[in-house]
Amino acid sequence: MKIAVTGAAGRLGRLLTDRLAERGHEVVPIDIAPPVRLALSDRDGLIAACAGTEVVIHLAARMSWNRADEAALFEANVLGTANVAEAAARAGAKLVLASTGEVYPEGSPVYQPLDEDHPRAPRSVYGLTKCLAEDTVAFYRRARGLRAVVLRFSHFQDAAELLDERGFFSGPRFFLRQKIEQQRGFGNTGAVAALEPHEDGSTKLVLSRGADGTAFRMGILDTRDLASGVLAAAESPGLDGEVIGIGADDSVGFDHLVPELARHSGLSYVDVTLPGPAVHYTTSNERARELLGFTVEFPIEQMIAEAAAARRAR
Ligand SMILES: NC(=O)c1ccc[n+]([C@@H]2O[C@H](COP(=O)([O-])OP(=O)(O)OC[C@H]3O[C@@H](n4cnc5c(N)ncnc54)[C@H](O)[C@@H]3O)[C@@H](O)[C@H]2O)c1
Repeated sequence: MKIAVTGAAGRLGRLLTDRLAERGHEVVPIDIAPPVRLALSDRDGLIAACAGTEVVIHLAARMSWNRADEAALFEANVLGTANVAEAAARAGAKLVLASTGEVYPEGSPVYQPLDEDHPRAPRSVYGLTKCLAEDTVAFYRRARGLRAVVLRFSHFQDAAELLDERGFFSGPRFFLRQKIEQQRGFGNTGAVAALEPHEDGSTKLVLSRGADGTAFRMGILDTRDLASGVLAAAESPGLDGEVIGIGADDSVGFDHLVPELARHSGLSYVDVTLPGPAVHYTTSNERARELLGFTVEFPIEQMIAEAAAARRAR
């Protein structure tokens, strides 16, 4: 098939475009980054790029939790998705939308594991823009005859990023200094006050707990597994109108994960109780298993071992 992929230069996009090409598909990469340099704001450019495609996989998005980026999030994730939906509808292509578990109130779920029937009630502007992206795609399905599938990804990253203090996600999640900087940026003075006494200039990991002592807990999926799930969604002609969550088989408690990261890397860690509730949620994979044949090939234990090897090699 001829398949357009927005966000082709990103974490998932790079891997997915390779996998699609390996399977014999003709890939049309779209990204604001070089060498393509096509922005989601360029509606005519997107229409031209998507012409003749059978599937458009829309991964491009802004991810940020900073107040200063909010206007850019609406611009890229909402208006950008409307432009991609228009381009896919004109091409008669099926749209596969990358949404997120942040459409749910992940910090305060009504029930767990979180599944596709859980009410959407985002607590971040990023999550809100993804809700609006989902609604935009639903509108194009209802009113413009677009065929579309919404994939709600729970958290994923490359294994090598897990133990990289410069990593977009793992830096502020698992490394003390980076977490302090992030929390200071968010204006969370209570968290900064709890973290800062442990800072002595050395590189250390941090095990985060909520005020009641509960360790943080979430699922972490390997990008390679997610790419297989997205590939299956793109290649399943029968899918239309489904919303499918894709994530790790199970969540992992940071009271297990952080000591394991420390053991494999030789770094030390500090155990810190932060103000407020713990981030503590689990998502369901059941529908992805049923509809996409989704399975996890790279569980967290393997990601940790690969992360440590990648850290040693850096
Ligand atoms: N990584 C996660 O944990 C996670 C979880 C849930 C959902 N998602 C979603 O999955 C998708 C892929 O995530 P990723 O981790 O690969 O992200 P990424 O940041 O690595 O890649 C995003 C790509 O989109 C491109 N892009 C951003 N704004 C653009 C614009 N205005 N015009 C054109 N291109 C633009 C970027 O240049 C980048 O190459 C995103 O939609 C993201 O919101 C990610």
